[in-house]
Order: sequence, then structure tokens, then C-alpha cells
Amino acid sequence: MVRAACAGPDHGRLSPARFVYIADDQRDALADAFVAAAIEADSTASGDRLASTRERALNGPCLIAVIGRIADDNPQVPPHEQWVAVGAALQNLLLAAESFGYRGKTVSGARVCSQALRRAFALRDDESLLAFVALGTLKGEAKEMPRRSPDEVLSVFAPPA
Ligand SMILES: Cc1cc2nc3c(=O)[nH]c(=O)nc-3n(C[C@H](O)[C@H](O)[C@H](O)COP(=O)(O)O)c2cc1C
Repeated sequence: MVRAACAGPDHGRLSPARFVYIADDQRDALADAFVAAAIEADSTASGDRLASTRERALNGPCLIAVIGRIADDNPQVPPHEQWVAVGAALQNLLLAAESFGYRGKTVSGARVCSQALRRAFALRDDESLLAFVALGTLKGEAKEMPRRSPDEVLSVFAPPA
């Protein structure tokens, strides 16, 4: 899956995406960081709120953090192109997971920008924690999301005369 992620389009071969697998024996450490992030955002957060925040780090059979390292001074490759490369790597990882019979969901939330999580993942100044990918096996039917039709997103180039 990560091999597929490494094959995404990447202008300048900057490799702006990296992934961190949260091993089972580190889920508690991640849960601690989630709780610290919740307190950082709201020092009055209730015990129930913190308990459910904790649970989010413990759920799911496989959890992977997605980190982007973006150079804001590259004259050839602006930041938005680098973020697209991170997204393409993420999507390749998800497609590979699906090809192996798994399903993945990408989740973020305000906590990904917290100092607590920046510290937990030892992010460099030019790195951001984008999201987490939860991978597992689908139970039951997949929920079909409404999708835009191709007609809505595809047009034919027609410059004004
Ligand atoms: C970077 C990123 C962060 C996301 N964060 C969340 C999130 O926090 N919560 C959520 O419900 N969906 C989030 N999504 C959207 C879901 O991953 C997913 O696209 C959505 O649930 C629809 O599912 P489907 O398109 O696979 O059917 C995020 C997507 C991306 C790309």
C-alpha cells in the first residue's frame, strides 16, 4: 500500500508525503496525545468528552497518520502542487487498500493542528499532520455517498472570442 502511495504524481520528486503507522502498543500513547490536544483546545472539556476523544485513538484495526512536508520557497513547485502530491499519495494508499479487500476512511479534525500532536509526531516546522487513515475490513454494506456527475465537473475548453 505504501509502495502504491510512493507512485503518485509528485512534481519535482519532492516526496512531500510520509506515513506513520501507529502500532497497537502505541495506541495508548496516541490516546494520551488526543486527550492533550482536546485539553489544549478546551481546558474545560468534560471527562466524557475526553473519554470519547481517547476512544478515537483506540478504534479500528489499523491506523496510519498522513504527514505533509511542504516547502514554501520552491520556485518550480508551489505549495498547492505539493499538497496535491500528498493527496495523490493518500488516495493511492486507499486504492491499494481497497484492491487488497480492505476499506479505509480518512479523518482529521481540529486536533491534527494541535501542538500536542505536533509534539507526539515530532513534526518539523515545515511539516503538518494532515489526517489519519483508519483501515479495516468493511462490515455490512458500504454506504453509497452522493457523487457529482461527470457532466458537472467536466467541460470542454472554450476560450472567449
Ligand atoms: C484530508 C481529509 C480529511 C478528512 N477528514 C474527515 C473527518 O474528519 N471526518 C469525516 O467524516 N470525513 C473526513 N474526510 C472525508 C472522508 O474521508 C470520506 O471521504 C467521506 O467520509 C466520504 O466517504 P467516501 O467518499 O469514501 O464514500 C476527510 C477527507 C480528507 C481527504
